[in-house]
Amino acid sequence: MQGNTLCRALRLALAFQALSLGACSSLGSDSFLTDNLVRKDQVQSVLERQPAQEICENSVPTGPIETTLCDYETVESVTDQLYADLHELVSKPFFKYFQADLYRECPFWPDDGQCNQASCSITSLDESDVPEKFRAKVLSQVSSVNEVHKLPGCYYRDTDFCYLDDDTEGEYYDLSQIPERYTGYSGEDARRIWRAIYEENCFGVSELNLMKSKNPAPVTLPDTMTDPFKDENGSIDESEQCLEKKVYYKIISGLHASISTHICYESLNKETGEWGPDLQCYVNRIASHPERLQYIYFNTVLMLRAVARLGPYLEAYDYCAFSNAEDDEDTLTKLNGVISTAQTVGRFDETVLFRGENANILKEEFKSHFRNVTRIMDCTGCDKCRLWGKVQTMGVATAMKILFELDETALNPNANAGLLTRQEVVALINTLHRFAESLYATNVFRELWQRTDEDESEKLISEAERAAKPRASPAVGSRFAPGGLWAHIFRICRESTMDCAGYIAGVWRDAVRTMQSVFAPGAKKQGPGFSTEL
Ligand SMILES: Cc1cc2nc3c(=O)[nH]c(=O)nc-3n(C[C@H](O)[C@H](O)[C@H](O)COP(=O)(O)OP(=O)(O)OC[C@H]3O[C@@H](n4cnc5c(N)ncnc54)[C@H](O)[C@@H]3O)c2cc1C
Ligand SMILES: *[C@@H]1O[C@H](CO)[C@@H](O)[C@H](O)[C@H]1NC(C)=O
Ligand SMILES: *[C@@H]1O[C@H](CO)[C@@H](O)[C@H](O)[C@H]1NC(C)=O
Repeated sequence: MQGNTLCRALRLALAFQALSLGACSSLGSDSFLTDNLVRKDQVQSVLERQPAQEICENSVPTGPIETTLCDYETVESVTDQLYADLHELVSKPFFKYFQADLYRECPFWPDDGQCNQASCSITSLDESDVPEKFRAKVLSQVSSVNEVHKLPGCYYRDTDFCYLDDDTEGEYYDLSQIPERYTGYSGEDARRIWRAIYEENCFGVSELNLMKSKNPAPVTLPDTMTDPFKDENGSIDESEQCLEKKVYYKIISGLHASISTHICYESLNKETGEWGPDLQCYVNRIASHPERLQYIYFNTVLMLRAVARLGPYLEAYDYCAFSNAEDDEDTLTKLNGVISTAQTVGRFDETVLFRGENANILKEEFKSHFRNVTRIMDCTGCDKCRLWGKVQTMGVATAMKILFELDETALNPNANAGLLTRQEVVALINTLHRFAESLYATNVFRELWQRTDEDESEKLISEAERAAKPRASPAVGSRFAPGGLWAHIFRICRESTMDCAGYIAGVWRDAVRTMQSVFAPGAKKQGPGFSTEL
């Protein structure tokens, strides 16, 4: 009986470890995901941290938050308000109309993975339904001090982190009527996109090549999650790590995690035909990979920092759709709320990036990779996903342009009124709204988890384990197979039976703790009227 239970625990622990690709192991006391209480020393160590002086040489991770000089709890404490403000803002005429060319060909491989289901398709607007002022200007009217580089259907300027549609072909969409949610787009076609992004456009950094402890990727997991990757002497080879590349990876992974969160939050129950949050989906995709949630926070802070710096510029923008001053005023009020939140919470320190010797070369590389990701969006075979993919990559690219390319002089609305197109402003705010919604949804999942009894919780975990199984098969693609960890476990187990049992027991304990910590409610309690109905 005892033995049976132990066996089951070991099997679960091993499988769970494989599922989580090591991310749950050995969580120390520093992770906010482990301990949701605001601990004084942690807050201080984050806020009083001196930004690293040397960039690529900085081999010691200084904390789980690293370049984000802002406590996760700070973001958590404003999530509800931020989400509420943004949610109203994105329904305003200025922010809801977006023009996009969804029919441009995929430049990298044949467009054969179309999703033809109704859930993937969207309806465009008649141009006459869009207030004339908000119709995109043609390229010739784009004001820019930079040279404009043209490609068929799109262009970029030297400062841009994305390709912008040149707006001669695109159609208009009302983003507020097109929810980003479960569409059924999945399988090899969807995976090919993500794989192209991670494998060919991510500086070789991926969640999975962290498994290869002998030759670790130039990336470090938050320090509380690195133990499985340490060699026998307890050190990690970080010679190749570079802050900018880690930031790049976090941005991509955080965006991916945010999209996954929306899919789980507005999911279709195939039995009842109803839409609602799917806790199992969230356990599988996010909760068992706590660093992905961290990256959503990371992206939120990065976007907020951009909005804070853009504050004066945004306040001077013309939001008036018609000659209806009321709508305009309301838009500005909500926007000011977001800006003031951004000014207190968006404490991302962009000045520590791109400062080293080869800063400019690195920045050009960073930009060209990210621009390429925005083109890969044209390969997404589901129109709804493609539209949101374009909006969000453009939004993140706009934030990066603000942070890494534009100084206060450039951002002065009087001197440089035509700095950003309306499309860029719309993408920026809608993307921040997407991330804020992911954090909000995470709280809903935490509530759901709290209402789950022990048996159900165990079922969710073992189901996640089961769902992860096919991924361990090399047939899915060698880089998607967690061979490294198995090798690691086998090595330990071959060398010492004691260590083996201890390691596996530790992994199990940490896996359970991680699950619990991800779901533990934040310091702040939800109000009484809180509902998870959608
Ligand atoms: C641009 C784009 C937009 C999309 N929009 C939608 C949408 O609106 N609605 C919809 O239903 N589907 C959408 N999809 C599809 C969706 O993202 C998934 O691909 C699909 O749901 C299948 O999910 P999956 O569990 O197989 O893993 P995927 O999300 O496809 O991930 C593939 C692999 O990448 C790794 N991975 C997963 N998440 C992360 C992360 N955060 N960081 C690092 N590695 C990770 C894992 O190893 C995983 O197996 C979109 C896809 C793309 C490319
Ligand atoms: C852009 O992405 C594609 C698809 O992954 C890849 O084949 C190509 O090498 C990338 N190009 C650049 C310049 O990064
Ligand atoms: C661990 O330390 C020993 C002694 O200092 C050294 O010989 C060995 O190469 C180290 N192993 C690794 C993987 O760095």
